[in-house]
Amino acid sequence: MEIKAIRGFNDVLPAEIGKWQFVEKTAREVFEGFGFSEIRIPILERTELFSRGIGEATDIVEKEMYTFTDRSGTSLTLRPEATASMARAYLEHKMYSFDPVAKLYCFGPMFRHERPQKGRYRQFYQIDAEIFGVANPIADAEVILMLIHFLKRVGLENLELEINSLGCRECRPRYREELKRFLADRAFHLCQDCQRRLQSNPLRIFDCKVEACKEAISEAPKVTDFICPECQVHFDRVKEYLGMAGLSYLLNPRMVRGLDYYTRTAFEVVSYQLGSQNAVTGGGRYDNLFQEIGELDIPGIGFAIGIERLISLLPGEKEFVKYPHVFVAASGGGTQKRAYELANQLHLDGIRAEADYEGKSLKSQMRRADKLKARYVLILGEEELNRGRAVLRNMGDKSQEEIPLQDIVDILKDKVKQRGKETF
Ligand code: HAM
Repeated sequence: MEIKAIRGFNDVLPAEIGKWQFVEKTAREVFEGFGFSEIRIPILERTELFSRGIGEATDIVEKEMYTFTDRSGTSLTLRPEATASMARAYLEHKMYSFDPVAKLYCFGPMFRHERPQKGRYRQFYQIDAEIFGVANPIADAEVILMLIHFLKRVGLENLELEINSLGCRECRPRYREELKRFLADRAFHLCQDCQRRLQSNPLRIFDCKVEACKEAISEAPKVTDFICPECQVHFDRVKEYLGMAGLSYLLNPRMVRGLDYYTRTAFEVVSYQLGSQNAVTGGGRYDNLFQEIGELDIPGIGFAIGIERLISLLPGEKEFVKYPHVFVAASGGGTQKRAYELANQLHLDGIRAEADYEGKSLKSQMRRADKLKARYVLILGEEELNRGRAVLRNMGDKSQEEIPLQDIVDILKDKVKQRGKETF
């Protein structure tokens, strides 16, 4: 039986990869412009990093992690997100001793055992950016500004930035109690999961997709009515700094985010083009995460973008596939060896060249060049070769010219330059 990929795990095929490379390249340019550095972290971590970091009573930790015991009996988990790992790396390598402020980003696959559907996979990729070591609300506004700038740079439109404040250790318990009280006499309407959540983690009920639960919580008190004066000042400043940067946003007091480490600012960027899985990005501040996984008290803020969701929103007309610059076509006799030599020379000079491997007829090579969308075909005829020349055919306007072989690299390089590397 043919072996297939696991459900919810996707291949990214060459026809799509140009978009991924474009998104990653743009993220690097934008983030590095804001002073962020790339970090690479492992895909596997000790399970307690996530159970303590993300929170025992979250959907991710309760039912979505890929956890197993390795051969030495250690419980390991395929990372469901990157923030906890980045915080661990910052602590483990004492990055704070060089500079307490670290601005880091990473790309990579995350793993969650969710029910796969469009926009929701079991292996999915994130672009993640974090600022560690800054409590000032300027940092909250700066990461949001960087995020919006990046999303615009890749060409996304019709996005909505939603923000909320989730309070802190001091004020959130009061809100939790209030929410419990409010839901207590509606408990019989709630689904079984939410009845359990009512005791363990009532804020999670806001994320439940069951209609009855949505209804039961629709009139619930708002977290922002319960935050302490310090959290209120912080939130006001974030809004002020966002306004100064010319960013508009929607206040969404029901947005609680699916991970327990958040304190104060929480935000999402949603697209109404995406259907039910509409969040392209989620993020927020997490001033207690470092204490959960280590011993230092370090504030942090950041976000993660879902690359698959982002890519599904990219404008269709932009050309991302890199086609061959030239197809070197041999037309019998000794010309195939010459084609091999020439193609190699072109590769070494950075020209995307293709050639035939099978001694096919000139006609079928032309067909292949057309299928591969080669911009030019260099036709090597024996008679022309003897004169040190070959025919260069422009596959766009079908014009042909005879050119000296020794100039081929320069001629093609010129054409690459003229037409711009991306489209040529
Ligand atoms: P999150 O909201 O769980 O936050 O995920 C961030 C983004 O990853 C989502 O907005 C979505 O685009 C994408 N995503 C999540 N789950 C899936 C899935 N199953 N399939 C496809 N895409 C998905 C975090 O992960 C936090 N670590 C974000 C953060 C960074 N907060 C502070 N710093």
